[in-house]
Amino acid sequence: MAQKNHKLTEEQIQHFNVFGFVVRRNVFSSEELAKMNDECDRRLAAIQETSDPEKNQGSYSWFNRNPETPFTSSLLEDPRIYVPSEQLVGDDSIPINTGTGSVDEGIDWHPDRQDHHMCILKNLMYLRPTNADRGALRVIPGSHKDPMHKELLRIELNSKPGEKKSHYLEKSGLRGEDIPCYIFNSNPGDIIILNELIWHAAYSSYKDRRLCYFNFYRNPKSPEQTESMRKEVKKLAETNGAHEIGGLQYHPWWLENPDNNPRRKRWISWLKEWGFVESAA
Ligand SMILES: [Fe+2]
Repeated sequence: MAQKNHKLTEEQIQHFNVFGFVVRRNVFSSEELAKMNDECDRRLAAIQETSDPEKNQGSYSWFNRNPETPFTSSLLEDPRIYVPSEQLVGDDSIPINTGTGSVDEGIDWHPDRQDHHMCILKNLMYLRPTNADRGALRVIPGSHKDPMHKELLRIELNSKPGEKKSHYLEKSGLRGEDIPCYIFNSNPGDIIILNELIWHAAYSSYKDRRLCYFNFYRNPKSPEQTESMRKEVKKLAETNGAHEIGGLQYHPWWLENPDNNPRRKRWISWLKEWGFVESAA
């Protein structure tokens, strides 16, 4: 049950820690969703105008902290997003990535991360209804932790680059939909918070399936966590070119912080200190 101060209950925190995800219903209103969809319409139209449809194959993504999407960008500093995120990954956690995507296709089973020294949570919401027959996100509860996480790697549930189907599905004759999981049936305004180590997939997609994410990273504490964060900065610098079309992750408009929001101020100095701002430029 949601609390008035937007805090997760002890049971919700336990749910996230044990199962690797927690669902929050009706976090945003239909008026707020209309604003997000409006921004999404405009941004998508602008990107489609300047990009090669052959190359994108019905998949477009962009970053939120840009002047074209001010409302979506502002949600990062909304307590409904940062309060639960800070509860789960620490008061000193940092939102390194936030973006929106419009995708036509589903995606086979995979974890976003395999490095257990990184603790990243994704606040994910779909801007249109989803269910089992319509592109819903599926997650394998508990697969953010070993041994389940690495067991799924061992049986090769994920398809390798260049492969059409996962080795495991191919050999077993199962479909991706047959894998035991939790299905996130969602209405716009619902949020699922995921640990990025969790195995997930989406099937039976539809045209212009819209998703919006706000990712918070744990501030590294151990030497191993520090090393992993350094790798993350490098990775961002390498992949930045691929997102050229989606604007900047940290647009000067956002870095200006005109209202002098103290939380944003702390985030910006951390992001600059670690080299994220420079890497993403
Ligand atoms: Fe993913």
